[in-house]
Amino acid sequence: MELTANAKINLTLDILRRREDGYHDMRMVMQAVTLADILTVVPAQGAEGAAVSDLRFLPTGGKNLAQTAAAAFRDATGLGGQVDVSIQKRIPVCAGLAGGSADAAAVLRAMNRLTGAELSPLELSKIGERAGSDVPFCVLGGTALAEGRGEVLTPLPPLPPCHIVLCKPPFSVSTPQLFSRVNVRKIVRRPDTAGVVSALEAGDLTGVARRLYNVFEDVLEPRRQAEINEIKSLLIDCGALGASMSGSGPTVFGLFDREDRAQEALERLGESYRDVFLCAPAGKNKCSAV
Ligand code: C5P
Repeated sequence: MELTANAKINLTLDILRRREDGYHDMRMVMQAVTLADILTVVPAQGAEGAAVSDLRFLPTGGKNLAQTAAAAFRDATGLGGQVDVSIQKRIPVCAGLAGGSADAAAVLRAMNRLTGAELSPLELSKIGERAGSDVPFCVLGGTALAEGRGEVLTPLPPLPPCHIVLCKPPFSVSTPQLFSRVNVRKIVRRPDTAGVVSALEAGDLTGVARRLYNVFEDVLEPRRQAEINEIKSLLIDCGALGASMSGSGPTVFGLFDREDRAQEALERLGESYRDVFLCAPAGKNKCSAV
C-alpha cells in the first residue's frame, strides 16, 4: 500500500505551562501542507518489520518512528502483523515540519486499512499519541487547534487556498533543548489564537496571515533568530501576506495569495538555501477504506 505523509506547519504556537510529566501544555493552530513523504507499507518479509528510506542516516528497523507506530497499533488493537515500511523522504528532517510524525501517522492509516480494523480518525489519532506529540494531528491532517501535549485536537475550517513557501536554513534545533530555554512566565508576546480561529471561520486568508506567531522564535540564539528574521523579511518583501517559523524550527514559511510572488520568493531563497519548497494547504486524511 502506497501513501503520502504530509508535513505540517504551525500557523500559531503558544506554550501555556510546564507540566509535572516534563511536557508542556500547548495551544497551536496546525495546518497540513502538500509537501509529503511517500511511504510503501507491506507485510514484513522477515520476522521483524524493517524501515528503510533514501536518507542513510535515518534509523532503520524498530528505532524508526514508523515502526514505533506499527507496534503501538498492534498493542492497541491486537491486530496486524509486522510490516516493512519504505520511505521516500521529501520532508526535511529536524525541520519543525513533523516529518517523522507524518510517517508514523501514515503507517497507522495503512495498518487501519490493511487489517480491516476501520478505527475512526479520532481513535487512530489516540493510538498515535504513543509515538509522539505531533502524531495525532498528522493522523487527522487538514487544519486543527492542538492543545494539551498536542494531542487534544479540535478540527477547524480549512486555511483558504494559498501558496506556501517553505525554507529550511541549514542548522537544526533540538526540540527538548528549546523547550528547556522557555520560561513560561517570561513570555511577553503570544499569538492571537482566537483571532486566527475567527479568521479561519471567516475564510479570511489575510486575517490569518497577519496573526502568524510562534513563541519559540523569541528563545532562539540571537544569530539563529537573525537568520530566521532575514528569511521572513525576504518572504514579506516578495509579497507574502505573513511569515513565521514552524514548530521548533528552523523552517520558516510564508503565505501568499499570488503564485507569481511565491515563485519569486522561491527563486530568491533558492540562491542561498538548498531546502526551499513551494506547496499548498492539504486537506484531511483518509484514514480508512470506507
Ligand atoms: O512527544 P515528542 O516525543 O515529540 O516530544 C519530544 C520532546 O519535546 C519531549 O521529550 C519534551 O522534552 C518536549 N515536548 C514538550 N512538550 C510538548 C511536546 C514535546 O516539552 N507538548
